[in-house]
Amino acid sequence: METNNHNQKIAVITGGSRGIGKSIAINAAKRGIAVILTYNNNPEQGKAVAEEINANGGKAIALKLNVADISTFSGFADEVSKTLKDWGRDSFDYLVNNAGIAQRTLIKDTTEAIFDELINVNFKGVFFLTQQLEPLMENGGQIINISSGLARFAFPTVAVYGAIKAGIDSLTRYFAKEFADKKIRANSVAPGAIDTEFGGGKGDESHRQQIAGMTALGRLGEADDVGLFVASMLSDDSRFVNAQRIEISGGIYI
Ligand SMILES: NC(=O)c1ccc[n+]([C@@H]2O[C@H](COP(=O)([O-])OP(=O)(O)OC[C@H]3O[C@@H](n4cnc5c(N)ncnc54)[C@H](OP(=O)(O)O)[C@@H]3O)[C@@H](O)[C@H]2O)c1
Repeated sequence: METNNHNQKIAVITGGSRGIGKSIAINAAKRGIAVILTYNNNPEQGKAVAEEINANGGKAIALKLNVADISTFSGFADEVSKTLKDWGRDSFDYLVNNAGIAQRTLIKDTTEAIFDELINVNFKGVFFLTQQLEPLMENGGQIINISSGLARFAFPTVAVYGAIKAGIDSLTRYFAKEFADKKIRANSVAPGAIDTEFGGGKGDESHRQQIAGMTALGRLGEADDVGLFVASMLSDDSRFVNAQRIEISGGIYI
């Protein structure tokens, strides 16, 4: 089995300032993983997550990253390398591509600008950030891409977003294929309806009840429903899980 021998694993988690990414960061740290998390528009929240982890005996740093700005990725990789050096390593183990945005428009109202923003953040950024960081990943590491239930079922107003997330599921399999020479695994985790600020939140009470009614477990998800699972994947307990899409939705639209 190809795993590395470093005592403390290190994860890079994009979009760790809020919502699901914050929960992944905190729960990964609770499992002993050192965390490099990123923020974009909310530096205070990103730094507060890192401070919370450090105050609880973990190890974390928050770095600025706009996943839509590929020209900054090389400089970001340099910052990651510097942090790794400070932590006595020259590689990291887990990359969680979590940062994302939604914008709700019907197909007929979707402009090229909306389309481009969605694809730049949710797809192009994932591709090129992974391309940039993979050389820094340890043999036997793992990439987790955050997908969406909307890649499996169609819902009005999120056509571009849902199709992009289906692309993420496919890209995940390509990562698993091409990075197999380093025994790096790649899996996508697809949240259902999770109660975060994502896309302006989950709306009024009747909408929330509607979503709960479509869900076998009868409720919306919480960030920790996803964060706890992803953190549990960041270990050798999942060592033979590769190129898979795993939905964390309480059973929505089954
Ligand atoms: N919530 C749901 O129902 C749901 C369902 C399925 C899938 N997902 C997926 O789960 C992931 C996280 O969603 P969430 O619910 O946690 O959303 P959220 O609460 O809105 O948080 C989004 C995170 O992404 C970061 N981010 C946004 N744009 C960015 C950019 N251009 N560059 C870098 N970081 C950026 C934000 O950073 P700043 O705040 O610092 O800007 C924030 O940390 C996304 O990939 C989303 O597609 C969510």
